[in-house]
Amino acid sequence: MRHILCAFALTVAATVGAPAQRPSAGDVRITLNPDSARHAISRHIYGHFAEHLGRCIYGGFYVGEDSDIPNKNGVRTDIIEALKALDIPNLRWPGGCFADTYHWKDGIGPKDQRPEIVNQWWGGVTENNSFGTHEFLNMCEELNAEPYLAANVGSGTVKELADWVQYVNHKGKSPMSDLRKANGREEPWNVKYWGVGNEMWGCGGHMKPEHYANIVRQYSTFMTDWTNSDGLFRIASGANVDDYNWTETLMREVPRHLLEGLALHSYSFVEWNNKGSAVDFDEGQYFATMRTALRMDELATKHSAIMDKYDPQKRIALVVDEWGGWYNVEPGTNPGFLYQQNTMRDAMIAGATLNIFNNHCERVRMANLAQTVNVLQAVILTEGEKMLLTPTYHVMRMYKVHHDATMIPIAIDNVPYRYGDAELPAISASASRDANGLVHATLTNIDANRAHTVRLNGLKIASAKNVTGEILRSDKLQDHNTFDRPDKVKPAAFSDFRIDKGELVATLPPFSVVALEIR
Ligand code: AHR
Repeated sequence: MRHILCAFALTVAATVGAPAQRPSAGDVRITLNPDSARHAISRHIYGHFAEHLGRCIYGGFYVGEDSDIPNKNGVRTDIIEALKALDIPNLRWPGGCFADTYHWKDGIGPKDQRPEIVNQWWGGVTENNSFGTHEFLNMCEELNAEPYLAANVGSGTVKELADWVQYVNHKGKSPMSDLRKANGREEPWNVKYWGVGNEMWGCGGHMKPEHYANIVRQYSTFMTDWTNSDGLFRIASGANVDDYNWTETLMREVPRHLLEGLALHSYSFVEWNNKGSAVDFDEGQYFATMRTALRMDELATKHSAIMDKYDPQKRIALVVDEWGGWYNVEPGTNPGFLYQQNTMRDAMIAGATLNIFNNHCERVRMANLAQTVNVLQAVILTEGEKMLLTPTYHVMRMYKVHHDATMIPIAIDNVPYRYGDAELPAISASASRDANGLVHATLTNIDANRAHTVRLNGLKIASAKNVTGEILRSDKLQDHNTFDRPDKVKPAAFSDFRIDKGELVATLPPFSVVALEIR
């Protein structure tokens, strides 16, 4: 980060986000290097996560065929339409911690004969298993999203997982494909993405990495044949935040031919044991949250460096299959349901984190925001028949231009966002060129108080007519959409830019996300 010589007085507002647009202390220079563009930003970085948790599946996605809420096979049509508009590339299910308690055979066959189960991690509620393998995989087909099945390794068996693979993927005759056909599905779904357990260092069984490495070797072996001719993408449960020993041990102990991805989980929060409200927060809490969010860059860098040691050709993907903001539940809601609102703070987490993933796309080739509907940093909230799109949804929609585009490396000469004696880089950015030759740059200004002017160079842009823009901003960081006012926070056209000697000069208001398209 560049240090600013002229000291600027920083007055910390008591509440965040008075729309004071104090000028930046200096321009931020962002240099794009299109000649060095080599690596694709996998669309799977923009994946989502749906766990049997609170009102994500039951009372969220799934309302049942008999509901008055418009649905297709029990899945809300408004949610399907909203997620289709995001082009969600993949959806992880059924957990999370729930995955290592879930026995998939409980969720197939006639619904009135499926056993009830108790969701031991999330509220201790009883579930009737009416949403199971068929319902999930058919929903993914409807969404045109690849399913990512997280398997039960903690309390399941090798045979149970091998059977699940055969049930959903085997084309010919076999005990499991016969059962699938008897349950009404002739053709296999061809599920590629499989999680070999979840958080095996915690709710997945409190395992040591050496022990889990052996478990991965065993489970991965029986999921497919000698050469993995099914093309399965097996993702081992990965590190908790900065547990680099976990990554080192898994990479060292699991042979390359048994593993395609290694996971990482990292959430953003104020303090883990004092998370605070999702909507009533002050600037100190905002700053602390952003510090944990921006740490994703260090985590991606350090976990990737360990992976490079064992896999210099980068054949194994780093899969950040849980990320997002985590606060206290909304007052009056079940603490085990993790239902929280979603403000401009969450838009900042999303904008900055997705930029980090884009810039690390050579190794980070898949990620899953936690979670899709009504849980943690959701893109969609529902209440009865009502549905709203959160600020995070809008960021995901603005960034989808990067799906499968070629990442353009950038260098940022940044300015600080200061809070007291601490500082964070104010601007985060990423850029890509899509299949039609259009360049897209996404920029996030996390500064709670100051607008910043950025100068994008390296493209030699002829005229402002070659550029269009979109912005997500609001008057207060705490602003969010409610069922009474679902459009309070939404994107708008952005025109606060000009071309100066081939450089694109844009001014980003405090806590805003801007997407620019350059022809
Ligand atoms: O996303 C909520 C929970 O967070 C998941 O179930 C678990 O994997 C993680 O600890």
